[in-house]
Amino acid sequence: MIKILVLHGPNLNLLGRREPEIYGSQTLGEIDELIRAEAAALEVVVRIVQSNHEGALVEAIHEARDWADAIVLNPAAYTHTSVALRDALTAVRLPAIEVHLSNIHAREDFRQRSLTAPACVGVVSGFGAHSYLAALRLAVTVVKPREP
Ligand code: DQA
Repeated sequence: MIKILVLHGPNLNLLGRREPEIYGSQTLGEIDELIRAEAAALEVVVRIVQSNHEGALVEAIHEARDWADAIVLNPAAYTHTSVALRDALTAVRLPAIEVHLSNIHAREDFRQRSLTAPACVGVVSGFGAHSYLAALRLAVTVVKPREP
């Protein structure tokens, strides 16, 4: 079975209450349930981690090297600042897909640059919780390439 680390970055634990006009009204728990349901439908194993700490996210990426086939991550604000997360992704050499609930390209200038995206296979941005679900499906196709 394909194994995927799903990583949520800082402040995503506040989803539901945090700027719902931008991030929607679903809580992180509700999004995680959707992710688990999608994983079950795809017959893949997911391990979901949320942290507000850059180092903990880096360590989760390092640990994924020992068990995961791919990473789906929403680095949240660290997208725009973290050389450490980018280097961790590059170091473990696992295929990674970056996810954003909002369309970061339609927002403030500082959000339009992702330091982590160049270390990823690609980015899904702007589809709310569906960004995660699409990224899971894409992760499976990256790990197990099939004809479209
Ligand atoms: C986000 C976008 C980031 O710019 C922001 O800092 C977040 C959430 C998103 O999912 O839309 O915390 O990653």
